[in-house]
Amino acid sequence: MVTASSVLDRVLVLEMVRVTEAAAIAASSLIGRGDEKAADAAAVEAMRAALNELPMDGTVVIGEGERDEAPMLFIGEKVGSAQGSGPGIDIALDPLEGTTITAKAGPNALAVLAIAEQGGLLNAPDVYMDKIAIGPGYPQGTIDLSKSPTDNVRSLAAAKNVLPHEIIACVLDRPRHASLIAELRALGCGIMLIPDGDVAGVIATTDPDTTVDIYMGSGGAPEGVLAAAALRCVGGQIQGRLLFRNDDERARARRWGIEDLDRIYALEDMARGDCIFAATGVTDGSLLKGVKRRRGGCIETESIVMRASSGTVRRVSAEHRKGLA
Ligand code: FBP
Repeated sequence: MVTASSVLDRVLVLEMVRVTEAAAIAASSLIGRGDEKAADAAAVEAMRAALNELPMDGTVVIGEGERDEAPMLFIGEKVGSAQGSGPGIDIALDPLEGTTITAKAGPNALAVLAIAEQGGLLNAPDVYMDKIAIGPGYPQGTIDLSKSPTDNVRSLAAAKNVLPHEIIACVLDRPRHASLIAELRALGCGIMLIPDGDVAGVIATTDPDTTVDIYMGSGGAPEGVLAAAALRCVGGQIQGRLLFRNDDERARARRWGIEDLDRIYALEDMARGDCIFAATGVTDGSLLKGVKRRRGGCIETESIVMRASSGTVRRVSAEHRKGLA
């Protein structure tokens, strides 16, 4: 059971939506404009400004990169208007999850944020992470990253009481996943190949309407922590293992205090205790509708915000008639 944290005030639950709304609206003016960097920069600036209005002593633990590479919302940046006096909160954020999707006006781009008490979120370096995730309702241990994709599909199929070929997997469409895809095809599984956006891909396992049973494959480690925070709120299982391409990435991990580079992280290792997860759709997707700009200037957004301790999931549809309140 997750106990409510006095640090994560209930008020913050809805405040988080304002933050992701601000980022999504800012990015939305660049949907389909072919400029990933500009879309990301707009979302980052808006999210940072919104975070700095909140009465908290916040620290970015998953952000836009390390200090020397990201001018705003870098890892370690302090945000919030109550530094030293307000509640100490760790923040994992991705102001625009799906920069390429946004630039190409594709589906499932999100503005995403998770908060927890200090120490509640894994300080994951910006490297790849091998991930496996399923939705709620299965016995613990149904998935195991140390086992083969075939073993995991068979185990999930047995838990779901279906045959392996009835399992639908979501996988990022990347050449590095060729052998994973071949293995899943050999089992006869359905594969939903997504161009980008594996936070939405993991969350899709929690929603029967998506038909996705399991998420598999490698993507960003920061996105893994954000997805773990979401599953902490709605249930489900995820495991992740950091993947290093060179010594620089290994050194990066050690700088964040990671000693065992082969460790398999369970959900609770990535997101502990009470946490709040919020996302606003930038483009239409399986989880949320994207930002709509109506004639007359009204901007519509759809967001989701959920809290681990209460298990509450709220969907928030907003009409911003005078810009952002
Ligand atoms: P960005 O929004 O930073 O472009 O990330 C999109 C994304 O698809 C993530 O969802 C995923 O974790 C990662 O990129 C995968 O990385 P790569 O594109 O290098 O395979």
